[in-house]
Amino acid sequence: MRSDPTRPDARSVYVRDMFAQIAPRYDATNRVLTAGLDEGWRRRAIALLAPPRGGSILDLCCGTGDVVFHLKRADSSLRVTGVDFCSPMLQGARERAQHARYGDVAFVEGDVTALPFDDESFDGATMAFSMRNVVDIDGVLREVLRVLRPGARFVNLDVSKPRNALWRRLFGLYFYGVVPLVGGFVGGSRQAYAYLPSSLTHHPDGVQLRDRFARAGFEKAACVPLVGGAIAVHTGTKPVREVAAAGGTEAS
Ligand SMILES: C[S@@+](CC[C@H](N)C(=O)[O-])C[C@H]1O[C@@H](n2cnc3c(N)ncnc32)[C@H](O)[C@@H]1O
Repeated sequence: MRSDPTRPDARSVYVRDMFAQIAPRYDATNRVLTAGLDEGWRRRAIALLAPPRGGSILDLCCGTGDVVFHLKRADSSLRVTGVDFCSPMLQGARERAQHARYGDVAFVEGDVTALPFDDESFDGATMAFSMRNVVDIDGVLREVLRVLRPGARFVNLDVSKPRNALWRRLFGLYFYGVVPLVGGFVGGSRQAYAYLPSSLTHHPDGVQLRDRFARAGFEKAACVPLVGGAIAVHTGTKPVREVAAAGGTEAS
């Protein structure tokens, strides 16, 4: 975690301002850039979360609420909270929630490296297309573990790095070449859509990120590649503490 979470670092401020700039056209641009496939990837991520009925789920970096609304459509009994540090993105989410009349959804302004929630308050957590943007991945994983109840699962959906060299090259041409052009045209900011692909360059690949999940303390850390590894879903479960029969002490 950053030493002072109330004072965001320069990269976080840059990321927040960039999303504020593209917020009004964010959803439409996503659909164009992925030819609508992103909706299916979100549904797949939610299937891997397998949230318990009526459970309380946290969506980190919720943006305009896509994952939140997918969760509600998958199971209307879920109580879903989205958290994001970009106020115009949250505004879009709140308008969509009002329009669709979803109950039991809340949108909270906050930084995912210092989550504004109590320990062990959620039955599951999701994050989509955002881990590349956070400055401190290990800090986010620590925070997710803190707010999850023992046995609850975390599912992270994001762009990744295909292992096959030819597919990696072809995907790179699209991601680094076409995305900034089309994103600039449809999304209204070439600069923002040039930053997004570059956020992948120094991001861990699928295996490395899975190992970061395990090192952070998640059990059953796994990476499920989609689209030949261009997209990946990482999953991990918060360990259940065993309460010793005699004496009542807890062991991890
Ligand atoms: C690419 S959008 C993804 C939005 C949404 N999850 C989706 O699937 O469409 C990334 C979001 O992450 C948010 N974000 C980035 N870093 C953050 C941080 N440290 N704390 C909270 N939100 C953050 C941005 O404001 C933005 O809304």
